[in-house]
Amino acid sequence: MTSLLRIVRFTRALAPLYTAIILCSVLTAGAGLAVPFLIGHATDTVAAAVGGDTATGTAVRTVVLIAGAVLVAELAVTVISNVGGWFGDVMSNRMRTILSVRYYDKLLHLPQRWFDGEITGTIVARLNRSITEITNFTKMMSNSFASMLITTAAVLAISAWYAWPLTVLLLIVFPVYVWLTSLTSVKWQRLEGQKNEQVDIASGRFAEVVGQIRVVKSFVRERGELEDFSRRFRSTDATTRAQSTHWHRMDVIRRAFLNLIFFGIYVIIFVRTVQGAFSLGEMVLLIQLMSMAKAPVESMSWVIDSAQRAIAGSKDYFRVMETPVDPRTAAVMAARPEHARDAGHADGTAGELPAGGTADEARAIAPVAGAPVVAFRDVSFAYEDGEDVLHGIDFQVDRGEKIALVGESGGGKSTIVNLLLGLYEPRTGSIEVVGHPSAELPLDQLRARIGVVFQDASLFSGTIRENIAYGHPEASDEEVVEAARRANADAFIRRFERGYEQVIGERGLKLSGGQRQRIAVARAILKDAPVLVLDEATSALDTKAEIQVQKGLEELMAGRTSLIIAHRLSTIAGVDRIITLRDGNIDEIGSPAQLAASGGIYAQLLELQSSGDSRKLATFDITG
Ligand SMILES: Nc1ncnc2c1ncn2[C@@H]1O[C@H](COP(=O)(O)OP(=O)(O)OP(=O)(O)O)[C@@H](O)[C@H]1O
Ligand SMILES: [Mg+2]
Repeated sequence: MTSLLRIVRFTRALAPLYTAIILCSVLTAGAGLAVPFLIGHATDTVAAAVGGDTATGTAVRTVVLIAGAVLVAELAVTVISNVGGWFGDVMSNRMRTILSVRYYDKLLHLPQRWFDGEITGTIVARLNRSITEITNFTKMMSNSFASMLITTAAVLAISAWYAWPLTVLLLIVFPVYVWLTSLTSVKWQRLEGQKNEQVDIASGRFAEVVGQIRVVKSFVRERGELEDFSRRFRSTDATTRAQSTHWHRMDVIRRAFLNLIFFGIYVIIFVRTVQGAFSLGEMVLLIQLMSMAKAPVESMSWVIDSAQRAIAGSKDYFRVMETPVDPRTAAVMAARPEHARDAGHADGTAGELPAGGTADEARAIAPVAGAPVVAFRDVSFAYEDGEDVLHGIDFQVDRGEKIALVGESGGGKSTIVNLLLGLYEPRTGSIEVVGHPSAELPLDQLRARIGVVFQDASLFSGTIRENIAYGHPEASDEEVVEAARRANADAFIRRFERGYEQVIGERGLKLSGGQRQRIAVARAILKDAPVLVLDEATSALDTKAEIQVQKGLEELMAGRTSLIIAHRLSTIAGVDRIITLRDGNIDEIGSPAQLAASGGIYAQLLELQSSGDSRKLATFDITG
């Protein structure tokens, strides 16, 4: 229940809609409650006429008037409940918007580590379910159940006025019914959780398979993937059977209990009417009131059921919302007023969209004079608990210097880039950027200073232009074309039918590997950051294209601090210094000429690459 209240607090921008819905519910209940009174009154009038106490003419006029009043009351119920329903629809949709936007906002600020442990499709499936269940419940609540609850409360009060034993019986029904239902729900929810887990895993895999359908096809794994998918869904059959058996068994018990109580209620009403305590009209009134009270009891199991789902959904929701973000991200978010609360705990004000436009200049990093642009100070790091991937990494890159990282695959080169970008924290040691400990810099400021081409080109669906201008959506066409030209991409882009407006498919699927890389290079060029990081930025290009891209990059690197990772050593021959890595340790640091003569990893690789001797390559032992 508290989690539902949190949802209400979380969406307090909707307060006017909540108020309108409650008002409509009260009016609907009030108009609805007038009907049994009117019908009771009509019954008495009819009885009096039949008994000869009233003249038929007068009685006819009265009952027609009463029928008219019933019509008015029922029309009022029809109209007001629909108005309330409209508010309910609008409210639940806005609630979905608020919850989804905040969830996305939160996800975008979660640390990289969190994503390493998750499967995309699973995150999406979970988000959809929890938000759907929350909004479904609030919609149902506002469309029908709120007025039912108000009616029930009124019925209790009215029946207490006429005959308190009826109230007592009704008062017994509710708690027992709720208790029996929640007993059912505990087990039901547990089983539902098991089903959801399977469905989430299957959905996660589903999304992954769709995203990499080429691999699935080439390894002829369609049947295997399908079987795995259907096995997970089939496993929910057995759970559903157990779940449903339990639910229906409990429903028999609670409904039988309800029938029994109503047996008592009818006995009281009938016997006391016969004894003369109630008039016929009062009897009819009470019978109608009792059946009005019965409706919410009967739908109670349904309501509690969806309330439980909504509670489970909101727990899932808040579990993600409470995941701690990187404190430096929190600082960035705190700079935007709406997020001041989000950063610490999941309670926020109700703005749907976070404001953009931070006070960038005010927080811009002021370089410390004479400090190296990047410095790793005895950094050790592990992705997970266990063995370190980097051991005591210590180097610095001065302003305008070009540094290359060389080493065997898996040696930790990309990891150094990840640490520099603040995607992960070093386990020990520290990283300094322009003289400031990077751990103290706001992440957006830190990342704004670094232009990076990742090892996998990582493009988005959309047009080429959108991809190149990803970091600078406001860039002019000329700037985009200039960046593409430097990345040696302009020529091939122009060959597309739609040029820069060509749509390139999910993750750039419709481009060749080398084309993707050149778009990624253009994207980094356009960012125009003072530090440039190239992680195998030209590895997919042929020698000719590589030389052309290299020319563009060289122009770009002039006066810029650069960190270059390349397996093809020809591309790093012109750097100032090379750092070689071996098993996560720095092996050597020196100029290309020095290292070529030292006999270390670089010299060995250089010899292999220039001789191109495949037999030598096959027996080469880099650790030797
Ligand atoms: N997200 C991650 N979670 C856990 N381990 C990881 C993760 N990313 C990389 N690793 C591990 O860290 C080690 C270093 O990886 P890294 O990507 O830094 O190597 P690299 O030097 O860039 O290799 P390559 O030349 O093949 O790109 C590898 O053993 C890898 O398995
Ligand atoms: Mg790498």
